[in-house]
Amino acid sequence: MDTTAEIINPNLTDKISRLSISDALRLLTELHPDQVCFSTSFSLEDQVILHHIATKNLPISVFTLDTGRLFSETYSVWTSSKEKYQIPIQAYSPDFHLLEPFVREKGPNAFYESVENRKQCCFIRKVEPLKRALAGQKIWITGIRAEHSGNRSHLNILEWDEGNQLIKYNPLLHWTQDEVKAYIHEHNIPYNILHDRGFVSIGCAPCTRAIKPGEDFRAGRWWWEDAGKKECGLHSN
Ligand code: ADX
Ligand code: SF4
Repeated sequence: MDTTAEIINPNLTDKISRLSISDALRLLTELHPDQVCFSTSFSLEDQVILHHIATKNLPISVFTLDTGRLFSETYSVWTSSKEKYQIPIQAYSPDFHLLEPFVREKGPNAFYESVENRKQCCFIRKVEPLKRALAGQKIWITGIRAEHSGNRSHLNILEWDEGNQLIKYNPLLHWTQDEVKAYIHEHNIPYNILHDRGFVSIGCAPCTRAIKPGEDFRAGRWWWEDAGKKECGLHSN
C-alpha cells in the first residue's frame, strides 16, 4: 500500500508546491496550530529555513539535537543565529541513562569500531532525542534536499513518516547547492565557517570530514563505512 498517498491529501501537496516557502509554512501552521516543528543542524539548508521562520515570525517550534559531539564551529553558528534571530531554539540532549553506560562499556569513540556501535551511538545521541522532540507534533520540517543522496532523490516535498506518524515537509527539496549558498549570501545569514574549509554535509565532529572537489555530497560523513550504511536513523525514508 502506498501509505503516503493514503495519508497526505494530493491537493495539499499540490497547493504547498505552488506557494512560497513562507506561505507554505504559514498554511501548515494554520492547519496544525502548535503542532509544527523544525529540526535544525545549522546546515546551510537549515539556516535558510530558520531565516524564513524567524523573519516571518511563524509559530513553529525550532529544535536541535545536541549530540554533545558537534563541532565548536557548529555551536558558534547556533550562538550567532540565536543573537540574530532572537527566537528560542530548544536543544534535546542524549538521555544520560542510555549514554553513560554506553560510554562506560564501549569508550568515547566506539563508533569507529563497528557499524553496530556507530548505530547505537547515533540512536542514543540523535534518534532517541528526536523521538522526544517529535512527540505530539503533526508536521516536521527538515532541510533535506534531493541532491543529497540517491535515497533522497525520490522524495516528495511532503512525505508521510510512518515511524514517527507525522508529515515531513522538505521545503528545499528541489533547491540546488548553488541556490542555497546564493540565498545565504544574499540575505547575510550566519553559516558554519567549516563550509569555507571543504566541509559540505556536517554532522558530529568525529564522524565528519572535509571532502575533495568532485566527491559525493555525503562522502565526508562516516567515511570509514560502506556507502550503503551511511544513515544515522533520523531519516528512515
Ligand atoms: S543525517 O541523517 O545525515 O544526520 P543531515 O545531516 O543530512 O541528516 O540533515 C538533514 C536534516 O536532518 C537537517 O536539515 C535537519 O532538519 C535534520 N538534522 C540532522 N541533524 C540534526 C541535528 N543534530 N539536530 C536537528 N536536526 C538535525
Ligand atoms: Fe555518535 Fe558519530 Fe552518530 Fe554523532 S554521528 S551520534 S558521534 S556515531
